Amino acid sequence: MSETIETLLTETRQFKPSAEFTSTANASSEDIYAQAEADPEGWWASWAEKLDWYKKWDTVLEWNRPFAKWFIGGKLNACYNCVDRHVSAGMGDKIALIGDGEPGDIRNFTYSQVKDRVSQISNGLKAMGIGKGDIVCLYMPMGPELAMTMLACARIGAPHSVIFGGFTAESIADRANDCGAKAIVTSDGTWRRGKIVELKKIVDQAMELGCHTVKNVLVFERVGAPGTETNGQAAPDYNQGTWVEGRDERAADVVDTASTDCPCEEMDAEDLLFILYTSGSTGKPKGIMHTTGGYLTGVSATSKLVFDFKDTDVFWCTADCGWITGHSYVVYGPMSNCVTQVMYEGAPDTPGKDRFWKIIEQHGVSVLYTAPTAIRTFMKWGEEYPNGCDLSSLRLLGSVGEPINPEAWMWYHKVIGNEKCPIVDTWWQTETGGIMITPLPGIVSTKPGSATRPFPGVGATIYSEEGVDLGANSDGKEAGGLLVLKRPWPSMLRGIWGDEDRYRDVYWSKFDDAYFAGDGAKRDADGFFWLLGRVDDIMLVSGHNISTMEVESALVDHPAVAEAAVIGKQHEVKGQAIAAFVIVKAGYEATDELRKEIRMHVGQKIGPVARPDDLIFTADVPKTRSGKIMRRLLRDIAEGRVLGDTTTLADPNVVASLQTEHDKEGQ
Ligand code: WT7
Repeated sequence: MSETIETLLTETRQFKPSAEFTSTANASSEDIYAQAEADPEGWWASWAEKLDWYKKWDTVLEWNRPFAKWFIGGKLNACYNCVDRHVSAGMGDKIALIGDGEPGDIRNFTYSQVKDRVSQISNGLKAMGIGKGDIVCLYMPMGPELAMTMLACARIGAPHSVIFGGFTAESIADRANDCGAKAIVTSDGTWRRGKIVELKKIVDQAMELGCHTVKNVLVFERVGAPGTETNGQAAPDYNQGTWVEGRDERAADVVDTASTDCPCEEMDAEDLLFILYTSGSTGKPKGIMHTTGGYLTGVSATSKLVFDFKDTDVFWCTADCGWITGHSYVVYGPMSNCVTQVMYEGAPDTPGKDRFWKIIEQHGVSVLYTAPTAIRTFMKWGEEYPNGCDLSSLRLLGSVGEPINPEAWMWYHKVIGNEKCPIVDTWWQTETGGIMITPLPGIVSTKPGSATRPFPGVGATIYSEEGVDLGANSDGKEAGGLLVLKRPWPSMLRGIWGDEDRYRDVYWSKFDDAYFAGDGAKRDADGFFWLLGRVDDIMLVSGHNISTMEVESALVDHPAVAEAAVIGKQHEVKGQAIAAFVIVKAGYEATDELRKEIRMHVGQKIGPVARPDDLIFTADVPKTRSGKIMRRLLRDIAEGRVLGDTTTLADPNVVASLQTEHDKEGQ
């Protein structure tokens, strides 16, 4: 990997937390890093103690690599910790959830109201025969009911498996069959870009394909009683046609009428809290398992310190609960900290491209957590949209999902944060459950593009390809290689549902003494981590390791470039040649001259070896629904192959038009 280090980003800007921010920060002293490092188990146990337990644990950690158990013997309930204990502590009237629907309807729920509604949903599930240990799939719109249904499952000890509301009937059937789900909870529909997406219909299709263990489908009404109109669109009649008596139940019948009293199950710390499927780059989705005590401890601690939650904060994490981010930083982390949050249902450009900023203005959002892909989209749309709204309530910004290029970081800092909000760039994964590498905003000086330091207690370091530990401490030495986690952490995955061998294989076979995360990273002389993307995103060009992310970052650094996606395509001489798919900003014309200029720009930024051979101008790049560039498809296009699986694409049309543009330009 040594060539990579030579060509790494040369970002040197640093942003120190203001004295004012530090003076009130939840974490303000460098000492906590040393304390946690000296006694990681004691550190995590101190966070577990902040939760409410029916019975305290006997042992903090049992580690039989690769299997960890945390807080053994402890009994607790995740829903109790996210809801009931706040009500008991007198916080019942505090707003928990602000549901902001795409058509503009707003519904607030206080913690007391959440407790009542969650209990009703739990009782409804129980009436359908769901009990402790039964798995329930949730295929619902992003909104309060989804969060509350997750909590309702946790309340009765039924693990949930949330399926993102944009997935197909086939994905639902695959997942429901893999985990043996006993019920599916859905809704009539949801709003997306001004149109109704009929979720219940998609569940019906999944049932037709065959969900062999599913006995019941519970349906919430979201888009309105059949026949009623919103913004000129009639709500679908989900009662007709495919409704199956005895299988399908209306929430109006089994939830609204249920008692608001439902006891919380006493769960073991190691009982399954949920399964969440994550797509591997190859093969069938993996059912990632998270358990109760360790997971809740991890997400509660990271929420409190990374997002610096105060009683007065209004938090908005823009991720859907269909992803791990929504599990950890909408439901379990923030709610265990009794935070007020916004949940937004729809698209960022509906009704206008200022929707996000309007939401922040309207609800006084103080902490915003979003993704680099969204930030780059907003950059492309232009500053006038955020500039037209009052964003002065913001005090802290977060980023997650992929490396944030310095260009986007600076835009976020200036245009959204008004140069006064610290930015926390948080690295983690579905598998890690919670944030692993991140600044603590009152302590750590940030550098645009770096996720900075491991969260206290996290054993992150960099290994060479051969498994040599290149160190993680600020010993003044730079290192480049593979990111690994050397010690267990409470919110780590406990395995892949039904496939122990795959768990060992995927995460614990590359190195025998560390969890391999799949990401390449560099550590700079200050001990800061710079994530370089998945290692399968590293290109080998004429013997040089070049990260796709690094070239993308250099491309978007050019004033004409809005967004870029880079891949390595096979090349007879070089091994791999760089192909870049580039979206230009409004007001620029995609000319041959500009193409030459952008290629030169990359050469100047990184070195001639990184100059793309092919540069294809395009209107869009194919992304998964979670916003990750689908490099495999771009590679297929660049190498002229028949396209592989496109079922997880957010917008399948993008590929067809890309192919045409690629062929037209004769690259
Ligand atoms: C992969 C995990 C974590 C929740 C959302 C994604 C990439 C995530 C960052 C970041 C650089 C990042 C990594 C990681 N990633 N956050 N701040 N900087 N890369 O969860 O779908 O499980 O994906 O996302 O490549 O391995 P996921």
